[in-house]
Amino acid sequence: MTVLKLHYLPDPVLKRKAKRVSTIDASIKKLAADMIETMHAINGVGLAAPQVGVSLRVIVLGMPEEKDIVMINPEVVKKSGERLIVERCLSVPGYYGEVKRAESVTVKGKDLKGKEFRIKAKDLLAQALEHELYHLNGTLYVDHLESLDKLKKNEPEETAEENGG
Ligand code: CO
Repeated sequence: MTVLKLHYLPDPVLKRKAKRVSTIDASIKKLAADMIETMHAINGVGLAAPQVGVSLRVIVLGMPEEKDIVMINPEVVKKSGERLIVERCLSVPGYYGEVKRAESVTVKGKDLKGKEFRIKAKDLLAQALEHELYHLNGTLYVDHLESLDKLKKNEPEETAEENGG
């Protein structure tokens, strides 16, 4: 497995709508394994393929103390509730901002064997799922701020980019 290079704003790959995966072949399996390796190397809780420069609908999630998840062609089935939360993104290092997100979200997608599964999530997992799904559609939390004045810079002592995706 390889730690991949992250792509940062204003890289255009982050603004592109990613394409659906048509066949889950060896290259997709390798991409997913490399994305998991990369996510752990940078302490992220999630990663979307465009963040490693690949415009395909593949996401990985790594919640603390939980098994890693790979989802191919994920789609939102249901969202409910609303909450204001702080978002950070590994592709926008050094910044954070408060955005409106769902309280719970149900997402369906395929695993690496092509089998469909669903995740019904709240809390951090719901946040990470929404975050990564937005990446696949070429939007980042910075696009959901009321204005760019709401984008805040980390204080110099805050170096952790944890909880980013
Ligand atoms: Co992100």
